[in-house]
Amino acid sequence: MECGNKEMGAPNQTHEVIEITGFITRSEAIEPDSLYKNCYKLLNEEEKARANRFLHPKPRREFVQTRAALRGLLARWTGIPAPTIEFSLTAAGKPFVAMGGCHFNVSHSHGVSLIGICKNQALGVDLEEIRDLPSREGLARRWFHPQEVIALETSGWDPHTFFAIWTAKEAVVKALGTGLGFGMDEVWIDAKLPGKPLLCQLGKSPNGHFNWILQGNVLQGTHLACVAYQGPQLPIVWRELGNPLDCIK
Ligand SMILES: CC(C)(COP(=O)(O)OP(=O)(O)OC[C@H]1O[C@@H](n2cnc3c(N)ncnc32)[C@H](O)[C@@H]1OP(=O)(O)O)[C@@H](O)C(=O)NCCC(=O)NCCS
Repeated sequence: MECGNKEMGAPNQTHEVIEITGFITRSEAIEPDSLYKNCYKLLNEEEKARANRFLHPKPRREFVQTRAALRGLLARWTGIPAPTIEFSLTAAGKPFVAMGGCHFNVSHSHGVSLIGICKNQALGVDLEEIRDLPSREGLARRWFHPQEVIALETSGWDPHTFFAIWTAKEAVVKALGTGLGFGMDEVWIDAKLPGKPLLCQLGKSPNGHFNWILQGNVLQGTHLACVAYQGPQLPIVWRELGNPLDCIK
């Protein structure tokens, strides 16, 4: 699937859209220290403290860059200056903008981050690097719906199919905001059509998936992404930016 609209611009205020922005956090395009410092200074004290608690530089860098990009994008959506945006957490830990104005969700995986924003619809996004994960069979047998396991067996445990199902399941769970509280085997995804995952079951009842819309995409040629939300159907604008500072302009 093609990523559309790589330009920045004001979000469409008259027709609701879902804007999904992917960007690289392992960028070698600019000097890493200055990138880190420019992102770090946009964070509030709590976020800086969280960044400083990371033991390893890679996840610290990923968090700082992603949070700065999130602030930049949300500033454009809400009109609130990036450094003064305040976040709250739901009981299950899903962050949201305390002053309201829009919904968002974030994912990061191996040097790439993804941020989904929408004015009125709760949404979930997930991103995974497509890789030859040796534990995928065990993970699927532990966490996936029996029908998904059958589909994976049929595919010969194809990594692309595995991550298409994984990201779709995670996107649904992240839209719900329940975290690990939701049984992953109660989310059944049919990933037969590339980029068009279908939610077949949510919860114990096969009818519990009504009105959910999922869309998948390949980002940077290396990562699989998925967005999930409850209808009505909205236009989805996918954008790929070079680095987090492109989200802040
Ligand atoms: C938080 C959770 C929802 C996603 O975590 P993850 O896939 O490891 O990480 P991602 O990079 O995709 O997402 C992390 C972001 O999700 C957001 N998030 C945190 N809690 C969330 C929740 N309950 N719901 C939605 N989003 C949440 C945060 O913005 C976080 O980024 P931040 O900490 O930098 O702000 C995860 O802990 C979880 O509960 N997953 C359940 C699914 C599972 O176990 N699947 C197994 C294989 S299918």
